[in-house]
Amino acid sequence: MRIRQATAADIDTLSALLDQLFSIEQDFTPDRGKQRVGLEELLAAPDAYPVVAEDEGRVVGMATLQVLISTAEGGRCGLIEDLVVSESYRGRGIGRALMDHLIRWADKKGLTRLQLLADRDNQPALAFYKKQGWSTTRLIALRK
Ligand SMILES: CC(C)(COP(=O)(O)OP(=O)(O)OC[C@H]1O[C@@H](n2cnc3c(N)ncnc32)[C@H](O)[C@@H]1OP(=O)(O)O)[C@@H](O)C(=O)NCCC(=O)NCCS
Repeated sequence: MRIRQATAADIDTLSALLDQLFSIEQDFTPDRGKQRVGLEELLAAPDAYPVVAEDEGRVVGMATLQVLISTAEGGRCGLIEDLVVSESYRGRGIGRALMDHLIRWADKKGLTRLQLLADRDNQPALAFYKKQGWSTTRLIALRK
């Protein structure tokens, strides 16, 4: 298994993986067309780093990181999104490998904080993040 930067050739597979993720998260609805456009934009964005986990040539997981500027941090921080491992490949260390890869990339880029959002009812993901040392904050998410 290896982690590498996503390319345009991965878009169909990644759209299908995002279907799995957005079927779990109550705030989102899977939509292959929107997922494809979003992925194309991420691939073209200079401050975004979308990665895939590949097992014997097959893409089995993904995650993305986007750089933000934080006045609280006085510099650049990172937003991690789109973490998903194909159902039959879960529990083999792939999710952790994706996160570790993004954390190393963020360190190299000098990002001083990483943040992410998770569905409050997604207990498996919350247990996963807790095990990786992520902590919850007093902030809540709002949208308009
Ligand atoms: C969350 C997810 C990415 C984890 O990926 P994974 O490849 O299955 O996780 P890993 O095998 O790398 O697990 C890493 C560690 O987390 C733990 N962990 C993983 N899933 C867990 C669960 N459901 N409950 C408790 N611990 C869990 C593992 O036991 C492992 O612990 P270890 O470090 O002691 O060995 C994966 O379950 C997934 O794709 N879920 C659906 C999409 C999703 O919810 N994404 C998160 C959106 S916020």
